Amino acid sequence: MRRLAVLVGSGALKLPFDVLVEDFRDTPYGEASSKPSRAAGRNFIVHVLARHGVPHAVAPHLINYRANLHLLSELGVEEIVALNTVGGIAKHARNGRIVLPDQIIDYTWGRAHSFAAEGDLKHVDFTEPYDAALRAELLAAARGQGLDVHDGGVYGCTQGPRFESPAEIDRMDRDGCTVVGMTGMPEAGLARELGMRYASLCLVVNPAAGRGDAIDLDHIAVIAREGMEDVARLLGGFFQGIERGD
Ligand code: HPA
Repeated sequence: MRRLAVLVGSGALKLPFDVLVEDFRDTPYGEASSKPSRAAGRNFIVHVLARHGVPHAVAPHLINYRANLHLLSELGVEEIVALNTVGGIAKHARNGRIVLPDQIIDYTWGRAHSFAAEGDLKHVDFTEPYDAALRAELLAAARGQGLDVHDGGVYGCTQGPRFESPAEIDRMDRDGCTVVGMTGMPEAGLARELGMRYASLCLVVNPAAGRGDAIDLDHIAVIAREGMEDVARLLGGFFQGIERGD
């Protein structure tokens, strides 16, 4: 029995199964962004958590990442599929494409980013920030659905909530970033501290600042809505694979 979570970001996601809302969200770190919901198959239990709250209102720098991750850990979750909408920095990271990053750079500041307490060092290995086996499974599911996905890349996490300046994007490009988002950290690091396998499906919803048309929130919403249908198909294939015992 696999115990998974889907951490839903921006953009409405029509899940490939019916979920029941669970009635709790308190943790020793405060309240999680939303009440989780739950679905189960023969071979899996999945908890779904809306990172920005329900309705979508919590800004990236104000998300209580520790509460979210702690809640999922308490529910017994061992594997997390994080959904992130991102801006594209690399040329191939074009609108509507799904990128599965394999590396991350944290440009955020001032976020509660660790469970380490006084006297508890919590040095965790982060050589491979995203779980290779979970990534491979998601990639196979995406290809099985005939989706336009890109294997690998560097997720650069900025503080937000404002978008970046073109000079900041140029710097991130020089650093090797493929895509830019605002929620990948500290989430991935906290999942590692709690021993949960973590992978991210990044949906590109705009060219990063200075890399294409001016950033337009209405346009981003349209691209996100369309792209989330692909993400839902990918997840559908992924969970079918688990049900078949692939
Ligand atoms: N920058 C940061 N986060 C984002 C972007 C962006 O261009 N698009 C979607 N999330």
